[in-house]
Amino acid sequence: MNTLKTLACTFALCSLALVARAQTKPADTAVPHLEKRGQATQLMVDGKPFLVLAGELSNTVSSDTERMKVVWPVLAGKVHMNTVLTGVSWDWIEPEEGRYDFRLVDQLIASAKQNNVRIVWLWFASWKNGLSSFAPAWVKAAQDRFPRVQIRSGKTIEVLSTLSRNNLEADARAFAALMRHTREVDQTHRVIMVQLENEVGVLGDARDRSPEADEAFAKPVPQELMDYLVKHKRDLLPEFKEVWDAAGAKISGTWAEVFGHMPKADEIFMGWNYARYVNAVAEAGKKEYSIPMFVNAWIVQPEDKGPGDYPSGGPQAHMHDIWRAGAPAVDLLCPDIYLPDFTGITARYSRAGNTLFVPESAGDTRGAANAFYAIGQQRAIGYSPFGIDNVARLQGFGPNGPQPAASQPPPDVETLPFSVAYKTLAQLAPSILEHQSKGTIAAASLNRQNPDQQIKLGDYILNVGLPRNRRTPDTVPDLTGYGIFMATGPDEYLLAGNNLQITFTPNTPGPPIAGIARQENGHFENGKWVVTRYLGGDDSVLRYDIGAVADMGQSGSGVRLSAPDRGIQRVKLYRYR
Ligand code: DGJ
Repeated sequence: MNTLKTLACTFALCSLALVARAQTKPADTAVPHLEKRGQATQLMVDGKPFLVLAGELSNTVSSDTERMKVVWPVLAGKVHMNTVLTGVSWDWIEPEEGRYDFRLVDQLIASAKQNNVRIVWLWFASWKNGLSSFAPAWVKAAQDRFPRVQIRSGKTIEVLSTLSRNNLEADARAFAALMRHTREVDQTHRVIMVQLENEVGVLGDARDRSPEADEAFAKPVPQELMDYLVKHKRDLLPEFKEVWDAAGAKISGTWAEVFGHMPKADEIFMGWNYARYVNAVAEAGKKEYSIPMFVNAWIVQPEDKGPGDYPSGGPQAHMHDIWRAGAPAVDLLCPDIYLPDFTGITARYSRAGNTLFVPESAGDTRGAANAFYAIGQQRAIGYSPFGIDNVARLQGFGPNGPQPAASQPPPDVETLPFSVAYKTLAQLAPSILEHQSKGTIAAASLNRQNPDQQIKLGDYILNVGLPRNRRTPDTVPDLTGYGIFMATGPDEYLLAGNNLQITFTPNTPGPPIAGIARQENGHFENGKWVVTRYLGGDDSVLRYDIGAVADMGQSGSGVRLSAPDRGIQRVKLYRYR
């Protein structure tokens, strides 16, 4: 077994670790790639920006061809998804060493084409949720050749070691074969991105304690990592910088000397080793077919007491600097968000130039709010709820809790909040992409605990809140409200969402009160705005205590968004004294 240093040099990547995530246009610009367009980085597909309205299948359903025949049309036709994240396991494509079987891959590409959706491969290979359960049997059964992580008790666990060249080479070879095959067969660019592995990191301990890992851990921190940290010292994320500073901000020494005592140094050591390994896998794949590639993180849960309870060394927000240093071929560091603090987590994954994509999250009403928020506020390239082959997920039932009663009739999928939300976002996609790039977009996600928000956008402040009764405006309803807002011209906004009301306060010199000049409800057909109703009167009067609102510098009128029929509105404002 070779050391980490040998691994890195095998793939000649040492110097690349210092290069920032470069977004280079491919020679064929139709090939999916990331491109900086104005104020946003966007995914380009067939030469045009593409908003990823996705869903992730449960882990193995894509190997069940019969079941998938039912699932595909629902996702594309009823939930309005334009992309499906699907597992492709190492075991499925290389059941025997060196013999590749791409039948499932071909079927998935053909079905995606038939249903007019795109695909993201989830490369379940060396690791899936930290464990190596999707490695082929010939890998699992040859422990001496494909070594595993050893934990504190001395036991080995079903987690392939990052410190083995054999592990890395076998994974990278299979991934390269998958990407070569994808390039050869996928002429219409169904496959637009790849997730590398799944929620990597050591479980059961903060680090690998095999003799090879102990030996690497006792050595100095690799020079390329130290150089990166020194070079980017000013830009390091605060939670990482704190750890380095607390240990004396040394620029050389062993892992424990530079990063202090356990388990911080353990986790950082694992982060570097996972990042180097995954980077080498990404490089091998990109050599065959270079499309955007990302990793996903198991977000630290309240019950996770330390690294090892959550996968130690994964791309958690506090490890981003290590991943940036070690994995320049990885384009995006992505969060799997099941915790309620969606806004806080997406903010942490939108720092230091990381472009947001949420590969796993909710698919119910919360999911609708999440999608709007990520795309509108954090300029995400897309969103994806997990487990979408199971309609119960779209109704808000989780995998472990109660399920819909057997007596309950199946829901009308098209009218579920998430389907309605995607239908809206799909219509708005061209406008959203334009305004992400111009920086003239914002979003809100509100609930009873956080019922109001002020957002500066264009020449106004948008006072966004959960809808209130006109006569009792101080009573807060128990609703999830969400919206996406675009400043489309002077005094003009395009607004969409559900369970929100919005008033406007001028934010530039001039008359201080904003009134509604014109308000339209409508939808987009082939990119063209079609008015379904002219709004006014009861549609726009939000309060009757006109004297009080006049004192507050308000008109008392505004916009009330409610999906599905009042979900998209265009308003023109005017100002008066
Ligand atoms: C997160 C993983 O990444 C998914 O593959 C899946 O196992 C879910 N957890 C289960 O909720």
